[in-house]
Amino acid sequence: MSKIQEGIPTQSKDQENLLVLLEETQSRLGYLPRELMTELAKSLGLSVSEVYGVATFYSFLSTKPLGRNVIRICKSLPCFLKNCQTIIKSVEKEIGIKPGETTPDGRFSFQLTNCIGACDKAPAMMINSDVHVDLTQKKISRILQAYK
Ligand code: FES
Repeated sequence: MSKIQEGIPTQSKDQENLLVLLEETQSRLGYLPRELMTELAKSLGLSVSEVYGVATFYSFLSTKPLGRNVIRICKSLPCFLKNCQTIIKSVEKEIGIKPGETTPDGRFSFQLTNCIGACDKAPAMMINSDVHVDLTQKKISRILQAYK
């Protein structure tokens, strides 16, 4: 390892373990309860704010319970340049909530996210693990109807 590489901060083993544990919990419970983050902090010897900081940094982790279907619209530059704002407005109109909210019936949670790796077919979004690309206002209604 070069002197330059040695100077670059790396993730500690505890931080790597923390992210894996948070991802596992998210997939098991659907979100990260506050009590669990406190317990994780104790068991890994980290502060609660460190755990909370990681849990809130990644858009695929949530500290609040989510709906059965999670819509994530990409807001990164290539999607922005392909008018993702129009898609965001269409989803808001279809399901009646804003980004960061969950419908009262628990059918949808709506979030904005950074790049999901479909930039060449922007604008793009994910619903759960499904990727939808080349979005238009017309497509939104049809796509959402498939998610009950
Ligand atoms: S910028 Fe939107 S998918 Fe990459």
